[in-house]
Amino acid sequence: QPSSPHSKVDIASRIPPYQKLIKRLHEVRRVLGPGRHLTLAEKILYSHLDNPEESLLTNTQNGANIRGTANLKLKPDRVAMQDASAQMALLQFMSCGLPTTAVPASIHCDHMIVGEKGADMDLPSSIAGNKEVFDFLESAAKKYGIEFWPPGAGIIHQTVLENYSAPGLMMLGTDSHTPNAGGLGAIAIGVGGADAVDALVDAPWELKAPKILGVKLEGELSGWASPKDVILSLAGKLTVRGGTGFVIEYFGPGVDTLSCTGMATICNMGAEVGATTSLFPFSSQHIPYLEATHRGPIAKAAAAIASAPTAQNLLSADPEAKYDEVITINLSTLEPHINGPFTPDLSTPLSKFSSVVEENNWPKTFGAGLIGSCTNSSYQDMTRAEDLVKQASAAGLTPKASFFITPGSEQIRATLDRDNTLSTFSSAGGTVLANACGPCIGQWKRTDGVTKGEPNAIFTSYNRNFRGRNDGNPATMNFLASPELVTALAYAGSTTFNPLTDTIPTPSGTPFRFSPPKGSDLPSAGFASGKPELQPTPGVPDSSIEVQIDPSSTRLARLDPFPPFPPTELTNLRVLVKVKGQCTTDTISAAGPWLKYKGHLPNIAENTLISATNAATGGVGTATDLDGTSLGIPALAKRWRDHGREWLVVAEHNYGEGSAREHAALQPRFLGGRVVLAKSFARIHETNLKKQGVVPLTFVREDDYDLLDACDEVSTVGLLEVLRSGGKGEVALVVRKRDGSEVGIKTRHTLSADQCGFVLAGSALNLLARRGKE
Ligand code: F3S
Repeated sequence: QPSSPHSKVDIASRIPPYQKLIKRLHEVRRVLGPGRHLTLAEKILYSHLDNPEESLLTNTQNGANIRGTANLKLKPDRVAMQDASAQMALLQFMSCGLPTTAVPASIHCDHMIVGEKGADMDLPSSIAGNKEVFDFLESAAKKYGIEFWPPGAGIIHQTVLENYSAPGLMMLGTDSHTPNAGGLGAIAIGVGGADAVDALVDAPWELKAPKILGVKLEGELSGWASPKDVILSLAGKLTVRGGTGFVIEYFGPGVDTLSCTGMATICNMGAEVGATTSLFPFSSQHIPYLEATHRGPIAKAAAAIASAPTAQNLLSADPEAKYDEVITINLSTLEPHINGPFTPDLSTPLSKFSSVVEENNWPKTFGAGLIGSCTNSSYQDMTRAEDLVKQASAAGLTPKASFFITPGSEQIRATLDRDNTLSTFSSAGGTVLANACGPCIGQWKRTDGVTKGEPNAIFTSYNRNFRGRNDGNPATMNFLASPELVTALAYAGSTTFNPLTDTIPTPSGTPFRFSPPKGSDLPSAGFASGKPELQPTPGVPDSSIEVQIDPSSTRLARLDPFPPFPPTELTNLRVLVKVKGQCTTDTISAAGPWLKYKGHLPNIAENTLISATNAATGGVGTATDLDGTSLGIPALAKRWRDHGREWLVVAEHNYGEGSAREHAALQPRFLGGRVVLAKSFARIHETNLKKQGVVPLTFVREDDYDLLDACDEVSTVGLLEVLRSGGKGEVALVVRKRDGSEVGIKTRHTLSADQCGFVLAGSALNLLARRGKE
């Protein structure tokens, strides 16, 4: 193997604990009894259970009904965090007072780097603009023994694939596209910071046992069809909600025909259909990839397990395993697809795209083609795109649209640089951006004169295409396609161009037609390591390091522990606002410009419920005080908190739907919220509230919502007993109206014994910190 900084890495520490997992798998089979056949996802998940018997047999009719029902308490092997979400995760971890993380972890600085003029110019300015955040992350990483990948080192998912993912591993990542690691046979799940902290402090992480969607791959890709087209066409079939509650597990004879990085692309975009995660079984293609990325011992260990008899084989499904649903895709007949605009499930086969453009009156020209990112910047992707660029250059063509290339990591950038792929792109007029998210997360400073609100089109090989996602312009129509297709289209500059059938006129007058792209899965000379300054810090804790937080910072603030539950019922909580209609985590904690305050709870709390509709007034983001003054909701919450008055929010159905955003639970708690009373909750947010010590209650009679008004005073009856008994009993509310009359309201709660402990301690972290000191 080439000598590199990798030779200093202790690869043995990155091999999943196979013997322990296989032992646990045996225990799982014993608990479930004979005749039970498991899918791959079930094997990996269940072999990470803290207590298989408890998780698999409670409320599941003795194990008969696990999927969609059982509450799995899992112990992941590893955690990865990106720079934006790592801030609150680390602040919470720090408040537990532990000297190091319980499992290996890594931090990746990728989200806060702008794409504009090219890596050399963009990286230094982005580092300067976010210095205090990067310094904080680096100092905390060094103190607690977390590997720190500095800005420019790469995008979290590419770096994880190249370094940490392994067949049979279970990991959590604080980013939705964490499932990218499933391309290498891992169960990798995207979570919020508070969930990551569970794993970091060795508390079991809870997941409703997912259902399993099997995707059977047959045949083999050829010509223009690429792994990206597998997921683009699947997204069209499943739609953006079709994977919710499912793990997507790939199987079938087509699996071994895909490159490892191609499998990662497919898993990455499983997030676009709402799947919990996606994964592939151990494949012969994993071995060369692991070896090329300096992890030969992992390839060897995994290959040995994969060839073991079924009972011990952790790395593929039992042959008789049953999926909840099966979709078959024939790779041999798969056509390239283009998805969008504005949603990843609007999927059109390439051959129909030009007529769809006509029908919808979409723009016929487009301004920019962007390839790479965490989804599609593998050696295979880039060399196939390079092949097309060489063909076009030889014909005397240059791209008609601006052409941007984002390498996913320093390793891939340095390798492409050494092999002259990047110089081919640059000589053709392409701009190579930093190894970071850049335009994929909206950090794109467009300089082509398109103004906000001006309709236009772009093509990317990224994964998301919600309105405004790339350039902040809601009128930009963003189409998703393979890097090969984006590259070819960039030469035509036309949205109706089909490289399989159409030609481009050359300067000499002869029409030019692309040949199907050719590339290499892996570099023949091995991967280059890249710049030494972009290697990670070692994951060794150093207690002498001071975590750097400037007390005058507006972006970072240490978290103070929330006070514990009083030794009494909650009395005279005041109704801050009765929310009407939908109330998502975005309604409770808005994103956009607020994201820069993710590490500063007091500052980000200024966005609390600012887009909630007030049921009494119809106003948005406003609430009324006792004296009739109308204030912003955060302002009134702070006024009451500062006068020692705690409060509750009343809401309708599915309160907290949307994402796992922990700020939506932290902020109300910080501002003095103790209870949320709703018609129903989104499950993840309901759990998040309990973790922060806020009690979620639902109405027994939904119509009782109408009995409550702003500024009513509410006291609990029975809550203290419920908490002290570990969740047994009912909670009622006594509501004192402004005219002095009283009404009683019956409620339901879903507090488990563990969660009662969180609420009594003030938060889950308080409880963990207390246990750490015991
Ligand atoms: Fe997310 Fe960055 Fe990929 S924004 S989608 S991790 S490139």
